[in-house]
Amino acid sequence: MTRGRFITIEGGEGVGKTTNVDLVRQVLEEHGCDVLTTREPGGTPLAEEIRAVLLGPRDEVVDPMAETLLVFAARAQHVATVIEPALIAGRWVLCERFTDSTFAYQAGGRGVDAQVVAQLAEYAHPGLWPDLTLYLDAPPEAAMPRIAKRSLDRFERERQAFFERVRQAYATRARDELQIVRIDAGRELAAVQRDIVGAVKRFLVARDDP
Ligand code: TMP
Repeated sequence: MTRGRFITIEGGEGVGKTTNVDLVRQVLEEHGCDVLTTREPGGTPLAEEIRAVLLGPRDEVVDPMAETLLVFAARAQHVATVIEPALIAGRWVLCERFTDSTFAYQAGGRGVDAQVVAQLAEYAHPGLWPDLTLYLDAPPEAAMPRIAKRSLDRFERERQAFFERVRQAYATRARDELQIVRIDAGRELAAVQRDIVGAVKRFLVARDDP
């Protein structure tokens, strides 16, 4: 059985990750891939409970390391019980957010040492990194109005400066990591989707997968 591939979709708030998961899934399925879609934090009952703990607004200030460890607790469970078994079974896993979000939000946004994030990642998902990451990039001021109508979670309530740091950290990752493809998500949806489809098809051809 050939191991499946691991694809992630990343980006700040309101850049259209959820909308585009369906599109990527469709392209992969047309190519004959058996696709599992999932998300982080979450993807298992325990990890979804941790998600609720992380996202729920609260009066107490959350310590950045406590936040980081909660994210990785959810991720370890998700990888061990959902992602790895699916990859081993030959399925393609399409995940909304993964450890690049931790580099962006906890390292970039909260100031946790990026090397500590890298070390925790090696404990939580040894040897597992995405084969392809679609990074949807848009300036926070362009994306935030798209979420303005939702009731805001603990992250969405952060100030503009926080989202600027998150974006900066994503930009650094996108520069340093070859599997990350940056897509300008500040444009009209049709143009964004054309680029997403192009990136996925190039990946499929380069991999020469069925
Ligand atoms: P979303 O998946 O609906 O965008 O919301 C998840 C929120 O959790 C988002 O604001 C980013 C945040 N988050 C982190 O801070 N670190 C992480 O590692 C992940 C996966 C998400």
